Amino acid sequence: MKVTVIGTGYLGATHAACMAELGHQVLGVDTDVKKLERLASGSVPFYEPGLEEILQRNIESGRLSFTDSYAEAAEFGDVHFIGVGTPQKKGEYAADLRYVDSVIETIAPLITRPATIFGKSTVPVGTASRLGQRARELSPAGEALEIAWNPEFLREGFAVQDTLRPDRIVLGVDRNRSGQAEKVAREVYAPILKDGLPFLVTDLATAELVKVSANAFLATKISFINAIAEVCEASGADVSVLADAIGFDARIGRRFLNAGIGFGGGCLPKDIRAFMARAGELGADQALTFLREVDAINMRRRVAMVESAKEFCGGSLLGGRVGVLGAAFKPESDDVRDSPALNIAGQMQLQGAAVTVYDPKAMKNSRALFPTLGYAESAIEACEGADAVLVLTEWDEFRKMLPADLDDVVRRKRIIDGRNCLDPQTWRNAGWAYRGVGRP
Ligand code: UGA
Repeated sequence: MKVTVIGTGYLGATHAACMAELGHQVLGVDTDVKKLERLASGSVPFYEPGLEEILQRNIESGRLSFTDSYAEAAEFGDVHFIGVGTPQKKGEYAADLRYVDSVIETIAPLITRPATIFGKSTVPVGTASRLGQRARELSPAGEALEIAWNPEFLREGFAVQDTLRPDRIVLGVDRNRSGQAEKVAREVYAPILKDGLPFLVTDLATAELVKVSANAFLATKISFINAIAEVCEASGADVSVLADAIGFDARIGRRFLNAGIGFGGGCLPKDIRAFMARAGELGADQALTFLREVDAINMRRRVAMVESAKEFCGGSLLGGRVGVLGAAFKPESDDVRDSPALNIAGQMQLQGAAVTVYDPKAMKNSRALFPTLGYAESAIEACEGADAVLVLTEWDEFRKMLPADLDDVVRRKRIIDGRNCLDPQTWRNAGWAYRGVGRP
């Protein structure tokens, strides 16, 4: 099939490469010419395991190419995916829809034959219906231009695997008109549907809500365990053991019950806020007031970590040296958008500490976002002369680190494990003061 993917960020670039991998002819579309040149040369402008290989393979086979021309995209594709960002509006909870709006405003007038647009971006409920109406108004194809919503559930770090082997496909279609969207989607995803993958066809609003509800649930799960961690700290209990114990109950499940410095990234934080804002507009704000607490618990983790480091360093960070291991919002990613690790590093520096950060993949993005922090080329270098070492992203490299690696490097043997990813006993046995989150 001839497919375009509009937007070539984490979501769009992955989707474009994976659609080509499924055998389609794919055109990736973006307004950022530099990014397009990089992608077209077979280089992924961010870190995503396995993506570069698929990108290169499909460029070489001639199935994948890139353009900044919407006219070319409209001419090329029978199927168009929208994968542009919906960030949080500045100074507001609501989502900023200018990029999805602009895609429709630009491409719809150029589409002259029957086509299907599948939205993948995370949008407030009601957006797809509004965009559909606008697209039909603008396009010479009129009613033959269909809009459906096909939310994306991929996780950064596992984006390729999540796209090629998703655990479900959700498709929202406009129930008020008869269309081809379901048939087209089944054809697009045929190679992965063969394995009996759940394929749920819903109305537009349900599909939009499925996506934000999933992220809100995940955020709630993380904040739940972080709230319990606070009680564990107050009572001397161990939240890691507690999470294992409750996680054995299949109704609860162990995943996303890791206490620590909380969630960040370009999705969970802004999605729960946009969800609250939209519910408010719909007069259902009471339904989601609990998400305000979920957000508050999460943001409190960052302040608590800075306080913990301060206490650990004898009551003040002023004049202290801190080595921070990890800057990405999670391992296997170079994404530092709303990263708890970088946020904590910045707060400690503002309190007078000399902070040196190391991350295996996120150095460039961190420097761009927080240019005034100190940066090192390795974990060892970041910890040189440190009065405290903080592990804030649970990269494998840090999990595997041994006390002996740092014994002669630091000034004081103090380690704070912001992700509960180290073995406390190993560090204590080696003469280190160890502090985790919600652990005695
Ligand atoms: C999230 C969802 O997991 C995806 O399903 C969704 O498609 C995506 O958002 C999106 O909306 O695009 P992602 O942002 O890649 O994916 O990251 P997650 O793996 O969900 O992690 C989010 C944050 O939660 C990270 O900062 C991570 O460190 C933190 N986390 C995760 C915890 O603090 N504890 C846990 O137990 C799990």
